[in-house]
Amino acid sequence: MLKVAVLGYGVVGSGVCEVIRTNAKSLSEKLGDSVEVKYVLDIKEVDSSDPEAAKITKDFSAILNDPEISVVAEVMGGATFAYDYTKQLLMAGKHVVTSNKELVATKGTELLSIAKEKNVNYLFEASVGGGIPIIRPLYSCLAANEINRITGILNGTTNYILTKMFREGSDFATALKEAQEKGYAERNPSADVDGIDACRKIAILASLVFGKEVECNKVKTIGITGITETDVAYAEKLDSVIKLIGQAELKEQKVYVSVEPRVIKKGTPLASIDDVFNGIMVNGNAIGEVVFYGPGAGKLPTASAVVADIIDCLRNDRNREYFWTKAESDFVADSKNNFGCYLIRTKNPEEIIKKLPIAEKVSVVDGEIGLVTEQIREEELNEVLPYAVSYMKLA
Ligand code: HSE
Repeated sequence: MLKVAVLGYGVVGSGVCEVIRTNAKSLSEKLGDSVEVKYVLDIKEVDSSDPEAAKITKDFSAILNDPEISVVAEVMGGATFAYDYTKQLLMAGKHVVTSNKELVATKGTELLSIAKEKNVNYLFEASVGGGIPIIRPLYSCLAANEINRITGILNGTTNYILTKMFREGSDFATALKEAQEKGYAERNPSADVDGIDACRKIAILASLVFGKEVECNKVKTIGITGITETDVAYAEKLDSVIKLIGQAELKEQKVYVSVEPRVIKKGTPLASIDDVFNGIMVNGNAIGEVVFYGPGAGKLPTASAVVADIIDCLRNDRNREYFWTKAESDFVADSKNNFGCYLIRTKNPEEIIKKLPIAEKVSVVDGEIGLVTEQIREEELNEVLPYAVSYMKLA
C-alpha cells in the first residue's frame, strides 16, 4: 500500500482526497499497488461523518518523520507555513507536489534547487491552468522548441466575471460572488480581480520556459476592477471581447511580461474561452502555435492535476528536474519599450490624434470617443495618458 499525505483540507485538499478515494481501483492498476491518504493536515475541526475525519491531524512532524510517506501534496496555499513545511519535507527527501502558485512564484527558485540537491521532485502542474496539462507539456513535450511567446487567460474567476458582464450584463460584484460560491476565487479575491494570481501564473510559465526567474514585482499587472459597462460597449463596437491576458514574450534575450485586460477580436482563439475556462497559447519555433484549453479552477479539475503529480512521483521516484535560476536584474524588460495597439477612450481626441497614428475611431457614449492606435511604443501611450479617460491594449 502506497501512502501519501495532504497538507490543507480546503477546496483543493478535499478534492485530492476525493479523487484518490473515487479512482482507487484505476489508480492501483496504474501504480501496481493501491494508494491511500494516510494524513490530512489541517487546524480546522472536521465533521465526524467526513470520509477523511480519522486522518485529520494538526501534527506536521508526524508526516515529516513517517518513513511510509514519500509524497506530500501541499494544497494549503500562502507562502508562510506552506514554505516552511515544503522546505522541511524536501530537505527530508520527500517529494512535494503543489497547487500553490504563490509559493512557486515567490520561492520556486529556492525550492527547486533544494529538490535538485536532494534528488526529489517539486512538481506544480496544478499551479497554472487548474486541470489543464501545461507545465509538463511545456517542459517535456515542447522541449524541442525555442518558445518565443506564451499568451493566456490564466485566471478562472476573472474570466467568469468578464463572461457574465458580456453575456448577461451582470454587474461586477454579483459575478464575483457567484465565482466565490463556486469555489473558484482566492480567499482574498483581490488576488484574482487585481491580476495578482494571473501574474504569479505567467511568472511561473515564463520562468519555466526561459529558465530564469521572472519576479512578480517586475511584471506590469493591471486587474479588471476598472472595467465598466462602457468598456464592454466599446469592445462590442469593435466586434471584440475583453479578457484578462497574461503574456510573456522573449525579444533579444529579454522577456516582456504583462497581465492586463485586453480587447480581443471575436473569432480568435482566446476570445471564445469563457466562464471559468483558461486557455494558453504557446508559440514555439518548431511547432508554431499550440493552444491548451480546459477548466482553470475548481475542486476536482485542480485535484486532477495534483493527483497526476502524485502518481508521477510514485511511478518515477527520481528528480524530474524542473529548474530555473536567478536572472540578471534586467532580464525582465521595461514594458515602456514594448509595442502594441491600444484603444484609448478620450474627451480630448485632438491632443492624442496630433501625437499618435490612429487606425480607427469609435463612438459609444456622448462626450467622448474611442481611438484605436496603430502599433506604438508603450512609452508613446504614456505621454498621452493625461488626455485619456482609460485605455486597453488590443491582443
Ligand atoms: N482563483 C484561481 C482562479 C484559482 O480563479 O483561476 C485557480 O488557480
